[in-house]
Amino acid sequence: MHYIVRRLNRPDRPARFAFMTQIKATNVVWHHGHVDRAQREEMLQQKGCTIWLTGLPSSGKSTLAFSLEHLLVERGHLAYVLDGDNIRHGLNKNLGFSAEDRAENIRRIGEVARLFADAGIITLTSFVSPYRADRDNVRKLHEESKLPFVEVFIDTPVDECEKRDPKGLYAKARAGQIKGFTGVDDPYEPPQKPELVVKTGGLTPQEATIQLLEYLVGKGLLPTL
Ligand code: ADX
Repeated sequence: MHYIVRRLNRPDRPARFAFMTQIKATNVVWHHGHVDRAQREEMLQQKGCTIWLTGLPSSGKSTLAFSLEHLLVERGHLAYVLDGDNIRHGLNKNLGFSAEDRAENIRRIGEVARLFADAGIITLTSFVSPYRADRDNVRKLHEESKLPFVEVFIDTPVDECEKRDPKGLYAKARAGQIKGFTGVDDPYEPPQKPELVVKTGGLTPQEATIQLLEYLVGKGLLPTL
């Protein structure tokens, strides 16, 4: 098993997980709609984008994403969080935590985020998304569709995440009750060139939210509040 995971994770092998992205449907033709993105954005008075939060479990991704969503919606903007734990209750409930399943998890959410952003929604995603190659694929997908993609590294040291451990999962992983837990016995590959790094240690959730908000407003991705 370990051999398989290592082999599949080699970034020099583009065929990685090709069996999952293989196109099985034949005789399908793209149908263009009558309304374009610009019209939707005009209606919503905002630009669609994807803000991709990545980091260890309990690093603060979901807290930050939901807090920013709240702030934006209160001010009349359409924002929506795609959250790892929540999505695994529905769309992705057939996926586990092997490297293959995590790749498929991120591939699907990358596609959903692209659709949401194309719909004009300020789309916030909070997934561990531990593999660089998977995140880079999502970035590429957005670039191909000319949609803004902002990778935000929630840089919380593992000791701090483990201290927080709101779901008690680090404790379970340390006790050997969960195998392949990110940060304990499964890898996390930090982004090499994220658009933004948020160091949550020493920040309140409100301060971290403001930091993210200020970055996005400064880049013209969010309307001035
Ligand atoms: S990802 O790696 O595929 O991006 P995702 O963000 O969807 O993960 O789900 C991570 C959440 O699942 C964690 O916040 C944690 O609550 C839970 N979880 C359960 N098992 C694991 C595991 N082995 N590794 C990481 N997270 C896990």
